[in-house]
Amino acid sequence: MELKQQLPELELVAAVPIVDDRQAGFAPQSFAQYLGQEAVKEKLQVYATAAVQRGEALDHVLLFGPPGLGKTTLATIIAKELGVAIKVTSAPVLERAGDLVALLTSLQPHDVFFIDEIHRLSKNVEEILYTAMENFCVDMIVGQGAGAKSIRLPLNPFTLVGATTKTGMVSGPLQTRFGIVERLDFYESDELAQIVLQNAEFLGISITPSAAALIGARARGTPRIVKRLLRRVRDFAQVHHQELIDDAVVERALTFLGIDAQGLNKLDRIVLLHILRDFSGGPVGLDTLAAMTGEDKETLEDFCEPFLMRQGLLQKTPRGRQIPVHRRLALRRMLLGEVAQEQEALF
Ligand SMILES: Nc1ncnc2c1ncn2[C@@H]1O[C@H](COP(=O)(O)OP(=O)(O)OP(=O)(O)O)[C@@H](O)[C@H]1O
Ligand SMILES: [Mg+2]
Repeated sequence: MELKQQLPELELVAAVPIVDDRQAGFAPQSFAQYLGQEAVKEKLQVYATAAVQRGEALDHVLLFGPPGLGKTTLATIIAKELGVAIKVTSAPVLERAGDLVALLTSLQPHDVFFIDEIHRLSKNVEEILYTAMENFCVDMIVGQGAGAKSIRLPLNPFTLVGATTKTGMVSGPLQTRFGIVERLDFYESDELAQIVLQNAEFLGISITPSAAALIGARARGTPRIVKRLLRRVRDFAQVHHQELIDDAVVERALTFLGIDAQGLNKLDRIVLLHILRDFSGGPVGLDTLAAMTGEDKETLEDFCEPFLMRQGLLQKTPRGRQIPVHRRLALRRMLLGEVAQEQEALF
């Protein structure tokens, strides 16, 4: 699945900023370079400045938001602004309590400790994190049987930055231990257009502002997707000997990539088509939908649904997913028209 291939390969426990787009793209290094999310940025900037002025570690930060909106990037920027190192890990790899303790004890004063997918921590690891976050210490049992004793290891004050795409899945006790909780929302098209221009400049791509706006409008509100689209449009332009990327080049490239005027990609259209055609618009359960489309549930839930819901094309109900009644007719025309065209092309 193409979107999955865009997922960052997390550099585990690296004390350097993480850039997920290995194929060169612009990675914001400061709040100024991080475009959009103005309200979140402004707050974080105030909190970071205040913590630095007091000579304290910044309070723990929890970042919510769909994939590719800039949570990891923001964590690296927070560390930069605080002038400290960042250690990065991901909840699924913190299997044993000892793994977490080893990382926590290696933190220098005020360092940022970033845990991605924090909703996936195991219970025993999560409990160790509670005391680490609250009291900057960890309690460990050493030895076995009658000789076992509990020792308390002090830690340097640090800032935990947790990121998650799953709002409802961070446990209550964990969530309350974060002093700062921020949600990243999808970006506006003009913000994405700015990100296109920022990356175009960095990569030496000539593009008109209006072409950048066109790409921004088709990027599902997501910086990772806008950066990928720009790179693909660049490939298209290069192969067709177009030195300047203008509206016409973008339109042709996006059609070539299967991205429609609303920014829907092939998977979105397949999902909508199944709900419309096979379930009369829904409701249909996620498991059934996953089986019908051949996609796993995570991909549908994380990548597909948030955007479709935001577009008003999908609703979640207790009985499953459904397409709002007033959108069904137009969608049916668009999607079934497309299928008819494809079938025609076969004969
Ligand atoms: N506000 C922004 N301005 C410019 N570029 C951005 C911004 N936010 C994110 N990006 C770029 O978008 C890409 C995705 O960002 P990032 O990896 O931080 O997202 P994420 O929220 O951590 O995603 P995931 O949930 O998949 O881990 C990166 O290449 C990053 O450089
Ligand atoms: Mg990330």
